[in-house]
Amino acid sequence: MRKIVLVYSGGLDTSVCIPLMREEYGFDHIITVTVDVGQPREDIQQATERANQLGTEHYTLDVRAEFIEQYCWPAVKNNGDYQGYPISTSIARPLIALKAAEKAIELGVTSFGHGCTGKGNDQFRIEYIIRTLLPDAEIIAPMREGRLLPNGSREPWTRTEELEYASAHGLTIPQNKDKIWSIDENLWGRSIEGGHLEEPNYAPPEEIFVWTRSLENCPNTPRLITLGFENGLPVSIDGVNLSPLDLVTQLHAIAGEHGVGRVDIMEDRMLGLKVRENYECPAAVVLLQAHKALEALVCTQGELKFKASVDREWGELAYKGLWYDPLKEDLEAFTDKIQDRVTGTVTLRLAKGSSVVVGRASKYALYNEDLASFDSKTFDQSDSEGMVKIHGLQSRMYWKLRQGK
Ligand code: ARG
Repeated sequence: MRKIVLVYSGGLDTSVCIPLMREEYGFDHIITVTVDVGQPREDIQQATERANQLGTEHYTLDVRAEFIEQYCWPAVKNNGDYQGYPISTSIARPLIALKAAEKAIELGVTSFGHGCTGKGNDQFRIEYIIRTLLPDAEIIAPMREGRLLPNGSREPWTRTEELEYASAHGLTIPQNKDKIWSIDENLWGRSIEGGHLEEPNYAPPEEIFVWTRSLENCPNTPRLITLGFENGLPVSIDGVNLSPLDLVTQLHAIAGEHGVGRVDIMEDRMLGLKVRENYECPAAVVLLQAHKALEALVCTQGELKFKASVDREWGELAYKGLWYDPLKEDLEAFTDKIQDRVTGTVTLRLAKGSSVVVGRASKYALYNEDLASFDSKTFDQSDSEGMVKIHGLQSRMYWKLRQGK
């Protein structure tokens, strides 16, 4: 009996993979694994229903707490961002693949299927984790391989062909307006792609947003919010300590109500394709902003400059899904050491789509009111005179040479 574990979202692509793996790839027993990282509840439910309709051995694994604590929290400490995108889909894929691989190991299965196409990033992220854990795994990607034509060649599936194939195999997929968009949602963010959205010059229609209000619908009164951090991690909202899951959920609601968290960027995908991407990530946007503001208060100038490059490298590795890369571990060692002092509070003002830091406080602040103040007499200004005279010595010499003097 040939068994395979399918990394299963319950969407059209992964559902079509099920009969395909039976008919074209010769598997007789299909195990579907749906990993819950905070998708809409209906999606989790739908995955179970479709798996039942298609006759698979189905598992739903709820890893929401682990996702926040082991994946989103490192993203906060490392200011996890790729080209302006607070990485969300990217950091969920390694965990999804890890859980599918663990299930396969438990069941003694060494074949894997996934529904990624050949154009995106997810194929890299998922296959890397599976191969790291199971170097000899067999991995098949029916969507990437394409539809088999009568002459033996293959071509990419169109949506219509997929729908026809699904219904011929007893799976009816209701057609509605939402299905124009390809949405990936987890606790850290929503990513909306597809249709005209990928065109750089097409303004995103209001209907794609679910977590954030439009400017017209935002309250007129701004909201001040104080976030508490301990060792680089968020712990409270307005002085109330919350579990990681509750904190993120509440922050989505508060920031989203004020229209904060929409991101619209040009993104360079791993294969080099430039694609326009839309994201909705209210909690991530506010937490990264606050975390950076606190680091700016407690870290030295040199640490900040160096950490900006650490953050950028970390963000790129995380985007590529290289979760077990040694460089990532090395960078995290540096980041974690610095986070010892990233304790304190940050106050932000949320209003009509904007979020602005209006205050920060920490017992580790490298700020001295007496030294910085305009009224201070502690700082002897005549001490500056010699330093100012030497300032730019080499560049002044260069300028003299250039003028032929
Ligand atoms: N481009 C993003 C990434 O690679 C998000 C892709 C999400 N997929 C989707 N169907 N919306 O992380």
